[in-house]
Amino acid sequence: MAVTKKWWKEEVIYQIYPRSFQDSTGDGIGDIQGIISRLDHLKDLGIDIIWICPIYMSPNDDNGYDISDYYEIHPEFGTMADFDQLLDEVHSRGMRLIMDLVLNHSSDEHEWFEKSRASKDNPYRDYYFWKPGKNGGPPNNFNSIFGGSAWEYDEITDEYYLHLFTKKQPDLNWESDALRNEVYKIIRYWLEKGIDGFRMDVIPCISKRLEFADTELDDFNRVIEEVYANGPRVHEFINAMYEQVIKNYDVMTVGEGPGIKPHNCLLYIGEDRNELDFVFHLEHMFLGHGPLGKFDPIPFSWRDIKDIFQRWDDAIGESGWISIFLDNHDFPRMVSRFGNDQEYRVESAQLLALLILTLRGTPCIYQGSEIGMTNVHFDKIEDYRDIEVFNVQKEYLDRGMSPAEFLSLVHDNGRDNVRTPMQWDASAHGGFTNGTPWINVNPNYSTINVAREREKSNSIFGFYQEVLQYRKHHKTLVYGTYQEISTASDDLYVYQRVGEETLIIVLNHSNNQQKLEMDITDMHLDLQNRDNPNEAVLQPWEARLYRKKHKSS
Ligand code: GLC
Repeated sequence: MAVTKKWWKEEVIYQIYPRSFQDSTGDGIGDIQGIISRLDHLKDLGIDIIWICPIYMSPNDDNGYDISDYYEIHPEFGTMADFDQLLDEVHSRGMRLIMDLVLNHSSDEHEWFEKSRASKDNPYRDYYFWKPGKNGGPPNNFNSIFGGSAWEYDEITDEYYLHLFTKKQPDLNWESDALRNEVYKIIRYWLEKGIDGFRMDVIPCISKRLEFADTELDDFNRVIEEVYANGPRVHEFINAMYEQVIKNYDVMTVGEGPGIKPHNCLLYIGEDRNELDFVFHLEHMFLGHGPLGKFDPIPFSWRDIKDIFQRWDDAIGESGWISIFLDNHDFPRMVSRFGNDQEYRVESAQLLALLILTLRGTPCIYQGSEIGMTNVHFDKIEDYRDIEVFNVQKEYLDRGMSPAEFLSLVHDNGRDNVRTPMQWDASAHGGFTNGTPWINVNPNYSTINVAREREKSNSIFGFYQEVLQYRKHHKTLVYGTYQEISTASDDLYVYQRVGEETLIIVLNHSNNQQKLEMDITDMHLDLQNRDNPNEAVLQPWEARLYRKKHKSS
């Protein structure tokens, strides 16, 4: 069977975190006009699809992932007219725009929730999950993904409501027919505007196990997979969104996939399923997370990463599709996590670029990766903004951890690492704002910024451009099969993509030289991130792409 051709397989996604991308008003918060002013940067880079994180009305408890009106743009980002202009400007440059759809939960300030909490017998009551307490405490032992109980007591009706995330993000009850109809209306509204699809936030969690039994599991990764995600009606609900609305539009849907694993992925993305086009699976993103989650780190290796990529590719084969990415707004900067953001920042950022642009799947580049932006190490916890940090901090300090130790965990794993403002140039606040940014700019902005990258030779930006252009002309990188090739050294990652041609990617993901033990007589070196005339030896973090020459050439 051949892989079906689709535009969303061939194109490349760029993720914008609007708060931190470009401010146009001086209020320190990125906005829609700011994005418009930077579209040429994305076009120039070679991007096709732009995913913007939520810009709807929101009290911003979780930076827009708590929506209080799905039909309004938050004034801090601009107006609906600004949005319409953005969509036009994206389309006129030949790019596409997808929105973030957050429908596992709403804000507690959404009018549905305000009505729902008012009395036990109002028509909105069953839009959310309300339960009486048990033995003077919450209905069960579920923990919120952001720390503390997943149930919040509400005095008005003397019951608890469920919130898998913060208490200002009550979970929506998809069992309600009326709620599902509201969902279809929201989806239709945005698709009618002409957007090109959705990224669906924590979509595997929308169907709950209604018995709400206590969980015995103490490994949080397993809790997510077996208790919070993959509920009994999840496929029915996703399929209904497709049948009721989405199938009538030429758009893409990509689901964020906590709890989706190789063994169940085809249920979500199998081409015969009419559910999602593809997913951002999180398996490699959860590497290094211990039983308590991201602030409970455990070691991991590149072997683990490679095994995950191979396992996923084997599971999907020609029957489904995934996205390939190494960071997003929820995880640390990829060059800091998987590369070497000190001595080999440029080389390792380029190597990771070649990796995400040549594995099988739709690449997604998070803002700032194209210039090798790094994690930030603020000295004071007060400089952080993420609600997750503050919720979890309380738990950890209560358990006896010192503030300094907690701060160092935040340095490595916190989400604000990727939420500091985009570094455009060496002027104040990296050219992000004329005012005071909502979160400080990474102090390294004077050396790491777009303007500088664009002037340099052998830049990270230039390498992204080169590989993105190459990918457009070599469809084997889209549709070809993937197979890892075993190597003598654990520090090399070698794989081939085979389609109309054979492409071999060789990555030295180490700080040491590595011998290339491969016969390259019939190969043409098409891409390389280092100026290294000695083909027999790979320099630290050197990345190459070889093409097998045709017999006749
Ligand atoms: C997803 C989002 C994350 C958000 C959470 C709750 O994981 O990516 O940023 O906090 O859902 O909506």
